[in-house]
Amino acid sequence: NLPARVRIHEVGARDGLQNEKATVPTEIKAEFIRRLADAGLTTIEATSFVHPKWVPQLADAEQLFPLVSDLPVALPVLVPNERGLDRALTLGARRVAVFASATESFAKANLNRTVDEALAMFEPVVERAKAGGVHVRGYLSMCFGDPWEGPVPLEQVVRVCRALLAMGCDELSLGDTIGVATPGHVTALLTALNEQQVPTSALGVHFHDTYGQALANTLAALQHGVTTVDASAGGLGGCPYAKSATGNLATEDLVWMLRGLGIDTGVDLGRLTATSAWMAAHLGRPSPSRTVRALSQE
Ligand code: HMG
Ligand code: MG
Repeated sequence: NLPARVRIHEVGARDGLQNEKATVPTEIKAEFIRRLADAGLTTIEATSFVHPKWVPQLADAEQLFPLVSDLPVALPVLVPNERGLDRALTLGARRVAVFASATESFAKANLNRTVDEALAMFEPVVERAKAGGVHVRGYLSMCFGDPWEGPVPLEQVVRVCRALLAMGCDELSLGDTIGVATPGHVTALLTALNEQQVPTSALGVHFHDTYGQALANTLAALQHGVTTVDASAGGLGGCPYAKSATGNLATEDLVWMLRGLGIDTGVDLGRLTATSAWMAAHLGRPSPSRTVRALSQE
């Protein structure tokens, strides 16, 4: 019982590039996003309106967003607070994402807040966005393991998910920020969320591939009814405020698996691979994606 179609939420330009040592020129980022759209991706996270000192790689959000906002795709952006929302709305953003944590350690490291203080910070953001007809995604980090706290109790994750939905988030993304999840843990969390009246239709999954489990975890989530999967072109990514976070699940690896399963994504794998190879050349290092490497050698 697998879904007929999966929506890929592409995060390479945001989660990917926020963690690169080199700051990529704004024009290259814009071309990256344009090429991703041309490859058939329909939801492309563009950037973050966060404090530029916290994430210098994305400090050009004001310059970048207008260069891509004409594209006929959804272009969500991260906003941690009302200041971020104001910046995004001024540029005409129609989709925003807040980002909560299931653990206190990461809430502190990433947002300089406790878990509940961060939720309180998001509340007016979500309210104002919804009032303006703007779609809101709620990220939840450290859903499986935390580098400081170890394995994360399911109840902790369920509590914050429910709070984000109660606030008005349209969808949630369950983050395995440091890539420690395994499929059994994914099934256990999705089952716990179901039991606590969190609808699977509102859930996306966001796996980092640190231990090579991202595809297996994705398959477990699909078997549970999830149809939104986050991935990053070429496997770019990580998180600057989570030690031991490596790249996201590579979009190419995901598309290869889904294609083999007969699941439609609308993505042209050839164009996508060419885009990731092009970006890897700009970054001066090969893509970690096995599919990109295999297809580039053909
Ligand atoms: P803070 O230091 O507590 O900020 O940081 P503050 O509220 O005390 O404000 C301090 C100053 O920052 C003020 O300026 C504000 O105006 C300014 P001053 O008066 O001193 O001149 N400021 C801002 N400036 C620009 N844009 C803003 C903004 N907000 C305040 N939006 C803050 C709190 C939330 C700002 C900070 O912690 C921050 O920016 N954090 C962002 C961290 C981040 O982006 N992390 C990566 C994304 S999360 C992720 O990658 C995980 C994910 O992929 C899922 C997964 O894998 O788990 C999503
Ligand atoms: Mg991430």
